[in-house]
Amino acid sequence: MRTRVAIVGAGPAGLLLSHLLDLEGIDSVLLENRSEDYVLGRIRAGVLESSSVDLLDQVGLGTRIKHEGKHHRGIYLQWPEERHHLDFLDLVGRSVWIYGQTELTKDLMAARKTAGQQSFYEVSEVNLHDVETSSPSVTFVDAAGSPQRIEADVLAGCDGFHGPSRHVVPGAVQQMWERVYPYAWLGVLADVAPSTDELIYAWHPDGFALHSMRSETISRLYLQVEPEEDIANWSDDRIWEALAARLGHGQNGWSLQAGPVLEKSILPMRSFVSAPMRHGRLFLAGDAAHIVPPTGAKGLNLAIADVALLARALVSWLRDGKSELAEAYSDSALRRVWRCTHFSWWMTSMLHRSGDDFDAQLQLSQLRWVTSSHAGAAGLAENYSGVPIGY
Ligand code: FAD
Ligand code: PHB
Repeated sequence: MRTRVAIVGAGPAGLLLSHLLDLEGIDSVLLENRSEDYVLGRIRAGVLESSSVDLLDQVGLGTRIKHEGKHHRGIYLQWPEERHHLDFLDLVGRSVWIYGQTELTKDLMAARKTAGQQSFYEVSEVNLHDVETSSPSVTFVDAAGSPQRIEADVLAGCDGFHGPSRHVVPGAVQQMWERVYPYAWLGVLADVAPSTDELIYAWHPDGFALHSMRSETISRLYLQVEPEEDIANWSDDRIWEALAARLGHGQNGWSLQAGPVLEKSILPMRSFVSAPMRHGRLFLAGDAAHIVPPTGAKGLNLAIADVALLARALVSWLRDGKSELAEAYSDSALRRVWRCTHFSWWMTSMLHRSGDDFDAQLQLSQLRWVTSSHAGAAGLAENYSGVPIGY
């Protein structure tokens, strides 16, 4: 097979890249090692920055977000006995939307089918070849067990943190930075109406908690736990008790409504950046090149921002013969990646209990400043609602 761009990975990065390229008349083939249903069923991120929504809207993918997503002006930050609302629209004129990654994936998969572009799901033995030459290729075994080879002008590594693409960049040119945090999140999807209109990020002596949501009837909640915690130790009752305590059930007339738990799992937390994001004819985007802890709600938005830059660069190169944007891609993308890496680390450090009481006093001082100073609140709001794509 031959195509212009061979895309490895059908997460948000790979699917959106294929859509943006298709709109500019550039063919791609998409490879994914999981099944379509598995990819659609993965419960992950839930917050879209306004620049992500604007981009999706401009490329014909805004209708369901606007109808079924929920516009949020800001977030609540709280600690025992205090809850403060930060209104991002008032502070910086931008805001966020609640729209599950599963819903966005559904929209992107439908767009790819409408475009009639070829996708292979449930592939195995994916290998990238000759990325330092002008004729790179990918080999794989398709779902029926037949070996396949795709020749392309360019390979796009959108295969997440565990995919093979990043490992093709030679050690001599690759730099990596990593921070593994000494805590994890226990995430819960619950069949109950959210007890809050906007997200609550809670500092608590027992550990961080977050009240998020997916719809008018589905809540998404998180608890800070030990990284080696066994999910079997967390019965639904224990989860709701911990959430009630940390989120302040009973304080100032607020109550947390419990309900049936639909799914629960433990997520490790790390920051990771790999550079460069381009090597020869291989371009990396999204989690394939970087991971952030979820506290800043940045992972999905960073994948979208990378792909917006990458699509522009590839169109300019492959259609118009201009290579400047492709040459600038890695540096341009990494500038925003590091901004979001810092913000996610900062939110994580401010809100999670380390067990150290000096740290706790510093965190509370920081929270008081962020919620009482216009400058402090605006800094958080600017980063949370999202610095512009191309920042
Ligand atoms: P991915 O979504 O990981 O997509 C990569 C794709 O490549 C996957 O479909 C994978 O199956 C495929 N792939 C891997 N290996 C191969 C291979 N060999 N061949 C072919 N395909 C391959 N972010 C937030 O902001 N908030 C959250 O609450 C949040 N929760 C998360 C929970 C979990 C468990 C995880 C893993 C991530 C979470 N994130 C969250 C991060 C966010 O979901 C990611 O940043 C986002 O999915 C990145 O998109 P991506 O397309 O770059 O990577
Ligand atoms: C989510 O809804 O899953 C979510 C929201 C905000 C975060 C992380 C996860 O910071």
